[in-house]
Amino acid sequence: MRASLKLIIEFCHFWFGVVFMDLLIKNGKVVWPDVTLEADLAIDAGKIIGIGSGDVFPKADRVVDAGGNFVVPGGIDPHVHMHVGFMGATTLDEFDTGTMAAAIGGTTTVIDFAFQAKGKLPMESIEARRKEADGKVCIDYTLHSNLTEGNDASIAQIPKIIEMGIPSFKFFMVYRKEELMIDDGNLIPIMEEIKKHGGLAGCHTENVSIIEFLQEQAIKKGNKSPIYHALTRPPINEAEALNRALYISKYLDSAFYDYHLSVKEGVELIRQARKEGFPAYCETTTHYLTLEEDMYKRPDGLNFICSPPLRTRDHIEELWRGLADGTISAVASDQAAFTLEHKKMGKDSFNKVPNGLPGMEFRVPLMFSEGVQKGRISVNRMAAVTSTNVAKIFGLYPKKGAIEIGSDADLVILDPKIKKKITIDDCPYKIDWTPFEGIELQGSPVMTISKGKIIAENGKFVGKTGEGEFVKGKISEEILKRPAA
Ligand code: URP
Ligand code: ZN
Ligand code: ZN
Repeated sequence: MRASLKLIIEFCHFWFGVVFMDLLIKNGKVVWPDVTLEADLAIDAGKIIGIGSGDVFPKADRVVDAGGNFVVPGGIDPHVHMHVGFMGATTLDEFDTGTMAAAIGGTTTVIDFAFQAKGKLPMESIEARRKEADGKVCIDYTLHSNLTEGNDASIAQIPKIIEMGIPSFKFFMVYRKEELMIDDGNLIPIMEEIKKHGGLAGCHTENVSIIEFLQEQAIKKGNKSPIYHALTRPPINEAEALNRALYISKYLDSAFYDYHLSVKEGVELIRQARKEGFPAYCETTTHYLTLEEDMYKRPDGLNFICSPPLRTRDHIEELWRGLADGTISAVASDQAAFTLEHKKMGKDSFNKVPNGLPGMEFRVPLMFSEGVQKGRISVNRMAAVTSTNVAKIFGLYPKKGAIEIGSDADLVILDPKIKKKITIDDCPYKIDWTPFEGIELQGSPVMTISKGKIIAENGKFVGKTGEGEFVKGKISEEILKRPAA
């Protein structure tokens, strides 16, 4: 809808009859994926009830002056791992401390994973994950189901999982030795079942056989330093697996989501698939957009081990191009808060380091600073890739990811003038390092609002633990049929 029309229609209807409302945000530059407008936002009972000029709204209990700063949709991080065991270590942040950190950084919804535990059914892992999160989360959350076994009993649970509001799945094409991998043959019946019931299948795309071969060779030669993590997972390795996953998806005519894309060849594969009209979606992460492979050559190189690995500058620039031209739909943090102590598990060999990096508190600030301020993407595109597209793809829209009448009032006020250098002292939970140390930020969230309540202000969490809720997703037909976000 055109912005001016949007204002007129929304003005007239929805706050009619409300005498007092909870919150008015005035003097903001409100950012939608298609337009930025100076507007005030009326909020009551956790929802947006008016968009326009505050003069005509009912009286508000609280008025926040956005002072001409941007008001963007609350961030939705499509990929986080809170307090989860992986490669022999458990990530540090709990659902309370982790979601507090996310809130401070401008995120109001996270999507975590329920890893199917060995010998258990996926539903048991989902129930266990919900027990861990419910009552603890400070912002809303949902889950992806991460199937690690493709047996009949697991496949039989797919319809129920989708029906309960978890329509998205992840499969590892890697981690064979860790017994997390789903092999190609098994992907067929799993993806068929997901498609049949309106879900979205997605993969961690790396070629396991290439990695195993190259790792074995490297270790035999005594090449165990962190740079060999990248050298044993070359770009071709990820591109080949993505190509294979896309072929399988096309064969099944089933929409596909690629988790944490890091290579330029992959951007081109997704670009082509989408040009053909195929519903291929992908996310990249803030670390692939900002950190280079050379980090592995530093004395602390092992800390940066994540999979896929960090890449060279040419890949980074193509990821930004892919974000700008609409090929890459979303930006995740892939939050996996392993401490320096955890990382030392691999001091003698790169393949023993728990894979993953912390940083969800810097996802929105980095996208604004590195993306918008450096002219790589518009502020509107930033709103799309950090929020609106995620909500659309995973079936949370328009409750989430939208500044529209009736949507949850999940909003972030972002001041483009604030300058600060990222330092570990600003990490709001007990993690002892950040991969983004020293990056200069130009612009940061100054207020985060979740369901109409102010939960973070100027780098401090001011909300309440446990006020976040599980949100159910239902993916639209449009998303599953054609590239629609
Ligand atoms: O290195 C990573 N990405 N660790 C987290 C697990 C995953 O594959 O997403
Ligand atoms: Zn992964
Ligand atoms: Zn991950």
